[in-house]
Amino acid sequence: MNKSPDKILANITAMGMYVPEYVLSNAELEKTVETSDEWIQSRTGIKERRIVAKGEATSHMATNAANKLLAARGISAEEIEVIIVATVTPDMMFPSTAALVQNNIGAKNAWGFDLSGACSGFLFALQTGAQMIETGRYKKVIVIGADTMSSIIDYTDRNTCILFGDGAGAVLLEPSCKYGVIDAKMRIDGSGGKYLHMKAGGSLNPASHDTVDNKMHYIFQDGKSVFKFAVRGMADISFDISERNNLKSEDIKLFIPHQANKRIIDGSANRLGLSDEQVFINIDKYANTTAATIPIGIVEAFESGRLIKDDNLIISAFGAGFTCGAMYIKWGMNHAL
Ligand code: COA
Repeated sequence: MNKSPDKILANITAMGMYVPEYVLSNAELEKTVETSDEWIQSRTGIKERRIVAKGEATSHMATNAANKLLAARGISAEEIEVIIVATVTPDMMFPSTAALVQNNIGAKNAWGFDLSGACSGFLFALQTGAQMIETGRYKKVIVIGADTMSSIIDYTDRNTCILFGDGAGAVLLEPSCKYGVIDAKMRIDGSGGKYLHMKAGGSLNPASHDTVDNKMHYIFQDGKSVFKFAVRGMADISFDISERNNLKSEDIKLFIPHQANKRIIDGSANRLGLSDEQVFINIDKYANTTAATIPIGIVEAFESGRLIKDDNLIISAFGAGFTCGAMYIKWGMNHAL
């Protein structure tokens, strides 16, 4: 799947991230549910997660990430043509979080929309934004992954409350003839919906006293089943994208996987034959921020010098739906330092 010589590529030219200030540690969770720091760290790799302040929502985090991106690129929001926000925790059912971000940053020439792909949402959004650039129709597309998972977590349920956190990351896509998204593979399998979902708040079970009393506005997860599918799903799709682009393990500079569980990440890394230095992990600090894990990972990897121009980057994810995806990116930004 190597690019043809005249193809326009969608290159990441700026980025930004935001996590809330409040740190919810494992020790803090030990006080509210029957769990332990040792259990959480050994089963998931998570030490702490960030949680929004009261009144702060997905659009606030997404706006912060987008503003940092604009400052880093040194452009006005008026130059932005499209804003895509991947999220399963929009501020409201409508208007879209993209519309709220557009207004907050003053992107008065943009259109945009939200995209629901759960933990694979950022990958799906990046693929969508990339194709807008590749057609030649658009020159500046912002793709954001942002989720306020604390808004749909039952903090009395130890099976789920330890796993998730809040955060946002944003990237700017611009045309390039050499750098950017080279190849992507995405999948959706609705038969997995029964293992991970939120029962109420949509058109099937609109909000009512019953839905609230029965805790139907929280995440339901059959963790063991999701784990089984995720290990296999993310490893397989990461391997496929590498193989069909003739990338051997030594050709991959960095693998930035979705951060849901350190053991799921290790499974994919092993399948690709990667060493620890080739795998980006920050699940210890932020837990699973759903659509935000990968863009946050991209920002932190770049800012810490782990990604430099001409590097081969693989990103991949697995999530509710089930959804999964992997992408091969030829990194095109010089290191900031
Ligand atoms: N603290 C202590 N014990 C806990 C616990 C917690 N926070 N959560 C669950 N347990 C218990 C379970 O109740 C179970 O007890 P039991 O055997 O008496 O029933 C025991 O620990 C083992 O549970 P199990 O499900 O086998 O643990 P696990 O090793 O599979 O880890 C998850 C559980 C949730 C961490 C793991 O299944 C997972 O990460 N699943 C995928 C989650 C995910 O990625 N979701 C997002 C998709 S993108």
